[in-house]
Amino acid sequence: MASLNTVLVPLVALLVTVASASNFYNDFDITWGDGRAKILSNGELLTLNLDKASGSGFQSRNEYLFGKIDMQLKLVPGNSAGTVTAYYLSSKGSAWDEIDFEFLGNLSGDPYILHTNVFSQGKGNREQQFYLWFDPTADFHTYSILWNPQRIVFSVDGTPIREFKNLESMGVPFPKNQPMRIYSSLWNADDWATRGGLVKTDWALAPFTASYRNFNAEACVLSNGESSCGTTTSPPSSTSNAWFSEELDSTRQERLKWVRENYMVYDYCKDINRFPQGLPTECSMS
Ligand SMILES: *[C@@H]1O[C@H](CO)[C@@H](O)[C@H](O)[C@H]1NC(C)=O
Repeated sequence: MASLNTVLVPLVALLVTVASASNFYNDFDITWGDGRAKILSNGELLTLNLDKASGSGFQSRNEYLFGKIDMQLKLVPGNSAGTVTAYYLSSKGSAWDEIDFEFLGNLSGDPYILHTNVFSQGKGNREQQFYLWFDPTADFHTYSILWNPQRIVFSVDGTPIREFKNLESMGVPFPKNQPMRIYSSLWNADDWATRGGLVKTDWALAPFTASYRNFNAEACVLSNGESSCGTTTSPPSSTSNAWFSEELDSTRQERLKWVRENYMVYDYCKDINRFPQGLPTECSMS
């Protein structure tokens, strides 16, 4: 356990493994919101705020090409209906890749929806949504993205909720060439997030606040725009980079099944009406 955080192994030229102790000052830039995003507690805590005039957001300084990235979030409490907290990885350009967590707020006592999506080469339409098995506003919980050349795994407190496998051999593009940054924002989406805009954001309760802490990344970091990471011919070789070839063992596959059976509220792979010409290729593979 200790070795991951204490050993820094150069992987290939220009490629480093980051296992950083969380400090928001070092790792992130606040990008918008005019003072509504704040780094607090010597860099250990970041808060985003939303009021009627604006939301706020931040992004990582680093660009990552594969990694295992953890962040703890505590979501907007109480009546959060209409608010959306987005936490995602994204590359740039018109054929971008993206790995999304989005938390759709709700009325007090009603469950948040955790919305997920995967874009490859500018094409998404791969939504899966879940309820959570705890109140995500009562405390911090860890939301993780494992992204390696074989798979993308979304996890919550170590429990996998979604796996998107590399099925390039079947013609499904997989994000593997474009470095991504981490982005997060808190914004108003009461035109769609609440069952198609049924419930409106209650601005009397503003500002709405989401909090972040304990960012941790074991990842390939791009520096100076160049890196040979991402070609499976030169994978990180050290055993401390086990995430690079990590897969779901049988225990975690059981957990994934448990989540899908008990907490999944939407799966594009089951939405036959939406895909009259047939479900996307990857849907027949899981
Ligand atoms: C809000 O709560 C309602 C009632 O339980 C539920 O149907 C809905 O999926 C929840 N989430 C959102 C984002 O509306």
